[in-house]
Amino acid sequence: MFQSAPITATDKPTLYAELAQQARGLLHGEQSLVANAANFAALAYHALPDINWCGFYLFDGNELVVGPFQGRPACIRIALGRGVCGIAAETRATQVVADVAAHPNHVYCDSASRSEIVVPLLRKDGSLLGVWDVDSPSLARFDDADRAGMEVLCGEFMRAAERGWVGGQ
Ligand code: SME
Repeated sequence: MFQSAPITATDKPTLYAELAQQARGLLHGEQSLVANAANFAALAYHALPDINWCGFYLFDGNELVVGPFQGRPACIRIALGRGVCGIAAETRATQVVADVAAHPNHVYCDSASRSEIVVPLLRKDGSLLGVWDVDSPSLARFDDADRAGMEVLCGEFMRAAERGWVGGQ
């Protein structure tokens, strides 16, 4: 069974490097997208300080549908272009929002969320798998180090997702 060692790093680049290494071990050898997404969300939720929600919105060909996550129950469907998730999906660029209350397009799921980061998840062929969304109860929780680290972390998830996605299970 996978044992995650406690992550002790205090600087963000080291924390994300350790987390990415743990994600690689955790997802290794499993082909189920749902299983890997669920374990990935649980790993991140318990390793990243000062967050209240993290999880996936998966693109069903039409809109984003909530996938495995950790945190309070969330909005189920988000149209492309709507909310921070929909913008990340449409623009295919990571979105870092310092103050969600000041964002004209933010979709409220958990009123505790004050800032967030959303990373688009793209397959090698350029198609959209979905987005990875992390929310914090603190303002301006995420900076460029989080953006870089989160993109590397999501790269580990996509490596596993591309290795073998069995029928959307
Ligand atoms: N914050 C997102 C909605 C999803 S929840 O935060 C879980 C957004 O505005 O896209």
